[in-house]
Amino acid sequence: MSNLPFEDDGQTICYCMGVSAFEIKKAIYEKHLKTVPEVVEETRAGGGCMSCHSQIEQLIDEVWSIINKE
Ligand code: FES
Repeated sequence: MSNLPFEDDGQTICYCMGVSAFEIKKAIYEKHLKTVPEVVEETRAGGGCMSCHSQIEQLIDEVWSIINKE
């Protein structure tokens, strides 16, 4: 089990690479990723057609709002 401040909701964000919202949020949270290219490098999410990039940006905002409150 993890101590992450969010759950795995089972949602897939990047269909090209088969990466879930949870995997992306975990990487952002644990590695303090701030940009889409950093997420691509770390998780491979966003490394295909790029149509998920705006959702990845939303996840970055979401996780940083959690980090900033800690
Ligand atoms: S759905 Fe993420 S790169 Fe295509």
